[in-house]
Amino acid sequence: MHSPFLYEFYQKVVRRKNYVRQPEIESLRSSLLQRKAKIRVTDYGAGSRVQANDLRSIASITRTASMPRKKGMFLNRLLEYYECRTVLELGTSLGIGTAYFSKARTVNSVLTIEGCPNIAQIAKENFDGLNCSNVELRVGRFDKALKGVNQVFDFVYIDGNHLEGATLEYFKFALEHTHEDSFIVFDDINWSDGMKSAWKKIIAQPNVHVSMDFFQFGIVCKRPTQRKQDFTIKF
Ligand SMILES: C[S@@+](CC[C@H](N)C(=O)[O-])C[C@H]1O[C@@H](n2cnc3c(N)ncnc32)[C@H](O)[C@@H]1O
Repeated sequence: MHSPFLYEFYQKVVRRKNYVRQPEIESLRSSLLQRKAKIRVTDYGAGSRVQANDLRSIASITRTASMPRKKGMFLNRLLEYYECRTVLELGTSLGIGTAYFSKARTVNSVLTIEGCPNIAQIAKENFDGLNCSNVELRVGRFDKALKGVNQVFDFVYIDGNHLEGATLEYFKFALEHTHEDSFIVFDDINWSDGMKSAWKKIIAQPNVHVSMDFFQFGIVCKRPTQRKQDFTIKF
């Protein structure tokens, strides 16, 4: 590993395990997994392959859409290690991933966007229950909700509407609203041929100098002083 940035990232963020865990987020997950009540889901995204039906149980949404604990802890470590303060998340779902971002000690604000009002309502209750006071939840389609957002973010997490064209549009937005040391994370980069193609186009961009392929997700950074390099990392 010849890149000092990548070496440090690997040692301090990928390999290092947290001492501080987030038991309250995991106990929220456990309680959501018990909720059999069904809600009507409005899907503005590429859709779920797991359940196309628009009436879904809270338990099933939690099981299929929520960020796994291991990934939550990893991204929480990344935010703290690189002292990220401002976070944008596209695709809140029930707010498990958002909570992992919100609880990073360095994070001041998380702007998260969810299209489905019924899902967003439960996410809001979850943020209140976890005291995630640094979270702003906007309800609406990503393209509409992002209009008028002028902030520059340290970390952008793109996790919804896995269509190639849409992903490239969100990437364009992310490039314009981040700085040289920001992180842009894409979920499900191998979910479909369209997502694979989007990821290839993203990492080929001349202003992306570092790309990391974790198979289920990918991270890109501008880091213009680095030689352009693409890494595959086992997670
Ligand atoms: C995979 S889930 C997000 C999981 C969450 N980030 C986590 O880590 O726990 C994706 C969410 O994005 C929302 N979504 C998809 N496409 C959207 C769009 N175009 N506008 C707004 N919300 C969208 C869906 O309703 C769904 O709740």
